[in-house]
Order: sequence, then structure tokens, then C-alpha cells
Amino acid sequence: MIGFGTWQLRGRAGRQAVLTALQAGYRHIDTATMYGNEGEVGHALAESGLDRDSVFLTTKLPSSRADRERGTLAASLRALGTDHVDLWLVHWPPPGRKLCHVWQELLNLRDEGRVRAVGVSNYSLAQIDRLTQVTGEAPAVNQIPWSPARHDPDLLAAYAERGVAVEGYSPLKGTNLSDPVLVDIAKAHGATPAQVVLRWHLEHGITVIPKSVHADRIAANFDLMRFSLDPGQVAQVDTLSRHLA
Ligand SMILES: NC(=O)c1ccc[n+]([C@@H]2O[C@H](COP(=O)([O-])OP(=O)(O)OC[C@H]3O[C@@H](n4cnc5c(N)ncnc54)[C@H](OP(=O)(O)O)[C@@H]3O)[C@@H](O)[C@H]2O)c1
Repeated sequence: MIGFGTWQLRGRAGRQAVLTALQAGYRHIDTATMYGNEGEVGHALAESGLDRDSVFLTTKLPSSRADRERGTLAASLRALGTDHVDLWLVHWPPPGRKLCHVWQELLNLRDEGRVRAVGVSNYSLAQIDRLTQVTGEAPAVNQIPWSPARHDPDLLAAYAERGVAVEGYSPLKGTNLSDPVLVDIAKAHGATPAQVVLRWHLEHGITVIPKSVHADRIAANFDLMRFSLDPGQVAQVDTLSRHLA
């Protein structure tokens, strides 16, 4: 439920940030072909000395690589230094008829065993329903932007009905961390507003994948299990979407 986001983490600093995250306890890393850092993730994983199977690795197929799914996955696996990924997502919906074709290819590659689960990112509900109608299988996950400002309980319920897990991205970027609601709740728990935002996602059953390059923030963003929000506090954070609308 708490993954480490790696967008914009490149080179030596990127590799060090992923290693720091693994050492801080993260066991879920989110990368993508488009991030150009699968090699750094693979090196950090090797350097950590952790068992491959103790870490959940996600990578993503760029929609521009529709028709080159197999080769793109092979390149991801090579760069990551592994023979499988735990989750492979289509990064953005490809246009027109490719929408379902690419999804069928992901299902085929999963059935060959090089990917444990497949999903999508930045898809609408209608696009997800189309995939399910045509192939008989819904994505395991839709990775989409989520934060208090974007909170949409009806959309969350619609994903739950379909059995599609929601992974929220940009949880902090989309949030005013000085908002008095967050500051007050944070004080009550001896936590930071950023931790309150991340914990709020967990209370809603949304996976979070915060990114940071700083060791102190990497550790704090993972330290979410020593407090919880009561229903009243969750409801208060929910209302931030209305304040900002
Ligand atoms: N599927 C997609 O299309 C898509 C799109 C965007 C992102 N993602 C994924 O989601 C991950 C997270 O999203 P994101 O990187 O856009 O945004 P984010 O994790 O919400 O925010 C990252 C920003 O917040 C700062 N930050 C991190 N921890 C903080 C803290 N405790 N207090 C204050 N500021 C903090 C970071 O700065 P420092 O690094 O300087 O600490 C960075 O500027 C990405 O890395 C990527 O893996 C996926």
C-alpha cells in the first residue's frame, strides 16, 4: 500500500534515493519505461541485498510502444535485472482500436508468466469498462492522480464495484501542506501534514507512491503505521476537495 515513486529520479542521486527507500523499509517501487531509470532501480535493488521476491516492482509500457509490447517488457526486465515484474501498467491510454489490442497483449504476456499482474494508468472508467467488455478481464489497478483536492467518493465506489484497485499518484504535489485542517490533524498525532495526507489515502484503501529525493522525507513518507485517522478526521480531509473546487 506504500510504494516509492521514482519519476524524475535519475542517475546516481536516483539510484541512491531508491536504495535509501529500500533501506527505510519500502517494499514497493514504482518506475516506468518513460522515466528512464529502470537501470537505477535495478542497481539499487541489487545493492540493497534484498531478495527479489520481497520487493513489489511496478513498471509501465508507454502507449507509443503499442505493437512493441514484448520487446519493451524484455528491455524493462533487462534493465531491472529481473525475470519478472509484479505489476505492468499501460502508462496512458493508446488511441482508438489500440486500446483493447494493447490490453490483450498485456494479458497474454502475463499468462506467459513474465508479469504477475497487469493494469492501466490514467484510464477513464468508460475505458476500463471497454477493456472488460472486450477481453473479459478488468485491469487489476488503475494508477491515477489522487489527493484531498481531487477526492471523489463516487469514483472510488465505482472502482471498488469493478474490483479495480486505485493507486494514487502525486498525493503531495496536489496538496497545500499548510492547510490549517492538515496542520491541526498533524499536531494531534505528532505527525507532519504530508504524513496526514498519505495516511488519509490509506484510510480510503488507496495505494500511495510518494516520491522524494531527501532521506528524511523518504523515511517520514513511509512512517504511516504508527497513527491512524479517526472517521471525523478522514471526513475533514475529504472536505478539502470542496474548499478547493
Ligand atoms: N502514472 C502516471 O502517469 C504518473 C504520473 C505522475 C507520477 N506518477 C508516479 O507517482 C509518483 C508520485 O507522484 P509525484 O512524484 O508526481 O508527486 P508526489 O510524490 O506527490 O510529490 C513529489 C514532490 O513532493 C516533494 N515531497 C516529497 N515528500 C515530501 C514531504 N514529506 N514534505 C514535503 N514535500 C515532499 C518532493 O520533493 P523532494 O524530492 O525534493 O523531497 C517532490 O517535489 C511518481 O514519482 C511516479 O512514480 C505516475
